[in-house]
Amino acid sequence: MFQRFRRTRLHPVLQRLVRETHLRVDDFIYPLFVRPGEGIKNEVSSMPGVYQMSIDEILKECEDLKSLGIYAIILFGIPEVKDSIGSDALCEHGIIASSVKAIKEAHPDMFVVTDLCFCEYTDHGHCGIIDDKTVLNDETLQISAQQAIVHAKAGADMIAPSGMMDGIIETLRTALDEAGYENLPIMSYSTKFASGYYGPFRDVAESTPSFGDRSTYQMDPANRREAIAESVEDELQGADILMVKPALAYLDIVRDIRENTTKPLAVYNVSGEYAMLKHAGAAGLIDYERVMMETLIAFKRAGADIIISYHAKEAAKLLKS
Ligand code: PBG
Ligand code: ZN
Repeated sequence: MFQRFRRTRLHPVLQRLVRETHLRVDDFIYPLFVRPGEGIKNEVSSMPGVYQMSIDEILKECEDLKSLGIYAIILFGIPEVKDSIGSDALCEHGIIASSVKAIKEAHPDMFVVTDLCFCEYTDHGHCGIIDDKTVLNDETLQISAQQAIVHAKAGADMIAPSGMMDGIIETLRTALDEAGYENLPIMSYSTKFASGYYGPFRDVAESTPSFGDRSTYQMDPANRREAIAESVEDELQGADILMVKPALAYLDIVRDIRENTTKPLAVYNVSGEYAMLKHAGAAGLIDYERVMMETLIAFKRAGADIIISYHAKEAAKLLKS
């Protein structure tokens, strides 16, 4: 006697009835890159379909996103001027603060997440204050707390620290609570690997480090136990949502963390993952839409609740039809 697994695959309705995992437009957070100016919408060659936009264009983009049912965005800023400590990120008139204000004014129903880091704002491209060797942890914590307050005051709905500094969640939670923002959630980039998959992002965000790499603060891709510990630690420090980044090459880690926490879990389907599918699709090597949907459902199946993805708009269109 053998089992006839194919029996439930024959009728499309039954196939949907027995489907174990679902992708919904509510699962997505869409990344947006904002830069100073007006009427700017520059496509990035390494990431077809992804643009650097000025605030006026971002406001139009939000309209488009809402028509697709996407109400959550994560913002990255490209400042006019970069310096050694990333001052633009600490300024109430900086690119992110101004963007958040404008978006929340024009689209109060949009949920605006801010990426909290310094690499887009520093002239050396590292994620904090540096000495001649590495990013200084505790010094960077101090200015990160300042950055969190700038985002909160501007009206951010959630703050997402991505710099992999130890103690960052405790620092931000305390600073936000003391300033009266005890209800502002923190989504931690809790388990973030030092990855080659961020290559195209650094073109868009203009944040390639001018020397060395990020392996003294981001994680070694070889480490599984440490990956779990990083996320568990951020939960203990008060993170509301945890994250694994990148997503595709780390689905085992997504499952591991899912099994070690009851917190909501996000994945960041990063720029290199997006670019690979885009370029393979354009070259006629794969059926782009099919491979995209197969990839996105894999994140859910692995245990993710939230997917940050450049594919979000295309996926939303397919989910609607
Ligand atoms: C900044 C940051 C990075 C990404 C998100 N936030 C880049 C990095 O760590 O170099 C990568 C996103 C992507 O590749 O799509 N700390
Ligand atoms: Zn950074």
